[in-house]
Amino acid sequence: MYINFWYPVATSEEITAEKPLKVEILSLNFVAFRDGDGEAHLLSDICVHRGGSLAEGWMQDDCVVCPYHGWRYGGDGKCTTIPSIGYDGKPPARAKVDSYPVQEKYGIVFAFLGGLPAEERPSLMEIKEYDTDGWRSSDAIVLHVDYYYERSIENGLDPAHNEFVHPTHGFQGAKPDYRVPDFELKDLELGCYCGGAMDSSEYKDDTMKRVRDGAGITVAGTGTHGPNSMFTHINFTPENAFHQYMWEAPINENQTRIFFLNLRNCMLDPEMDAKVRERNLDIAHQDIAILSKLDPIRTPYSNTKEVLMPADKAVARYREWMKVWERRGWRIDVETLRTKRGDIGYAIPSPGRRTSGNWVLDEIPLLPEGAEQSSTADDAAIG
Ligand code: FES
Ligand SMILES: [Fe+2]
Repeated sequence: MYINFWYPVATSEEITAEKPLKVEILSLNFVAFRDGDGEAHLLSDICVHRGGSLAEGWMQDDCVVCPYHGWRYGGDGKCTTIPSIGYDGKPPARAKVDSYPVQEKYGIVFAFLGGLPAEERPSLMEIKEYDTDGWRSSDAIVLHVDYYYERSIENGLDPAHNEFVHPTHGFQGAKPDYRVPDFELKDLELGCYCGGAMDSSEYKDDTMKRVRDGAGITVAGTGTHGPNSMFTHINFTPENAFHQYMWEAPINENQTRIFFLNLRNCMLDPEMDAKVRERNLDIAHQDIAILSKLDPIRTPYSNTKEVLMPADKAVARYREWMKVWERRGWRIDVETLRTKRGDIGYAIPSPGRRTSGNWVLDEIPLLPEGAEQSSTADDAAIG
């Protein structure tokens, strides 16, 4: 898991000005709420007085109130009121928690979990066709799954599973002489892309058959953006496409929340929304059934701990990208976190730590910059 990327926090509807929302991301707890202007905020959940959970409290005057002794924190993370300080006292500078940059888009609230200044932050994965003529977007679907987010992203980059996991695509994997077709792999700004013509021309599903209308070859591809987001563009025909976007939030090392949006430029009738949603959920659950049984549950540190094939080249490339961010010192040291948690209250450093001192909570432990846990030679292993 890595700091310094944008993570989906919750859907827009889930975050309100009436009640704070507790969210676990990257193994730490956060509290999300809106102020009176409707702006969403995300703060570290640990009250710096004596460790109360802010999300268990309530809202008052645009602030979240700690349920233990009533300290109030504004959206900027600063404490505005301390009932136990006496009538003349003012909250000290240390009375603050980390507050994270937020963007609200596509019906989802995203937060930047890291301390980089705005100009150095990796971007949020954008949807260019959102709200444009000829495209219709689904509402965000949120899936809670019991596996590590990297296994999920790797599954998106894996063209070899389609014909085995998704019988609805045609199930050419059932043919004894089936072989996975070759595909193109290239680098993107913050990840990689793999794609090509699919063998899946024999759709069994009515919705898919209707979109294809018997024409041409389906061309599909998936690209990643940072460790935790990806898109899949499926061109059923040169004109008819589904563009799917997924931002993933590791809850911890064992669970993930996946925020999924499907955009389409065909079947634009709103009455088709339910059908498309049902279709996408069916396919998602086919993946979930396989991925939740993987062992180990997390991506192994070395590729020699699996036997990778040429069709795993995009998975291998994704793992190389993760090493880039590990060398930057952005990878969370989960072993230290596991050992010390309970004795130490941790926070992900927010950008505010660059401009002010006196932070009470320890910064989440990170693996040292420039180092990686496995050798490059091991990680190149394919075949
Ligand atoms: S622990 Fe939050 S106010 Fe005391
Ligand atoms: Fe799949």
